[in-house]
Amino acid sequence: MFQDEVRRAAEILRSATRVVAFTGAGVSAESGIATFRGAGGLWEGQRIEEVASPHAFAADPVHVWRFYDQRRTNVAKVRPNPAHEVLAAWQERFPNYTLVTQNVDGLHQGAGSRRVVELHGSLWRVRCTGCGREREDRTAPLPALPPRCAECGAFERPGVVWFGEALPAEAFLGAESAAEACEVLVVVGTSAVVYPAAGLVAVAAAVGAKVIEVNPEASALAHLADVTLRGPAGAMLPQVDAMLAGG
Ligand code: APR
Repeated sequence: MFQDEVRRAAEILRSATRVVAFTGAGVSAESGIATFRGAGGLWEGQRIEEVASPHAFAADPVHVWRFYDQRRTNVAKVRPNPAHEVLAAWQERFPNYTLVTQNVDGLHQGAGSRRVVELHGSLWRVRCTGCGREREDRTAPLPALPPRCAECGAFERPGVVWFGEALPAEAFLGAESAAEACEVLVVVGTSAVVYPAAGLVAVAAAVGAKVIEVNPEASALAHLADVTLRGPAGAMLPQVDAMLAGG
């Protein structure tokens, strides 16, 4: 049963040239980073609108920054896990490979993924609310909250997409066209309940791509999966990769 699914996933991927990997918080779970929903999730005990919305930031920038500074500090202490490593290795295996993530932790890049489409921005980017200047900042914890722009002195905000905000247009359009052109979409570690990101799965399915879901639980789009690997990505993806390498 179980090995059959791994074998089926490997068979589908073996003959594929155009592959999209689409990831959510679950791909970082085995690195020790909390997911958002489900037991112990980041949003549990947090009112999302109090820490992840433009309104919250306008009302209390220090409170919002305390939440993001803590996430940055947590992520700075962890390492990519074997799931990130396989998804990075696949950029050499598939001629046309696009890695799209909803995650903001930067762990895909830490594992060696060179081109990562970050639909929801990054914890490691900050943007000035005054002049719009955006920069990379890996300091964790930050010396002062909120950070201030060196150019204009206004508060800088986390470079992430908050609820109610549009996704970066170039990133989403790139992800959408990759999903429209792919033969296989591997969906890893997402509950698939947040749109428009989750819509990429239906886009791929609608053009006849094979969908492989890697998740210990069924996501909201599990019904679109041709193959389901019902287990942790850090164990599942290396098994598929080993079978691919085994020829
Ligand atoms: N391997 C694979 N999947 C896992 C693992 C694991 N080890 N552990 C948990 N999961 C799965 C859960 O079963 C769940 O389906 O990861 C998924 C995590 O779902 P969410 O916490 O909802 O995270 P995500 O889908 O990425 O959320 C999407 O919502 O809060 C916003 O902007 C935030 O990008 C985020 C978006």
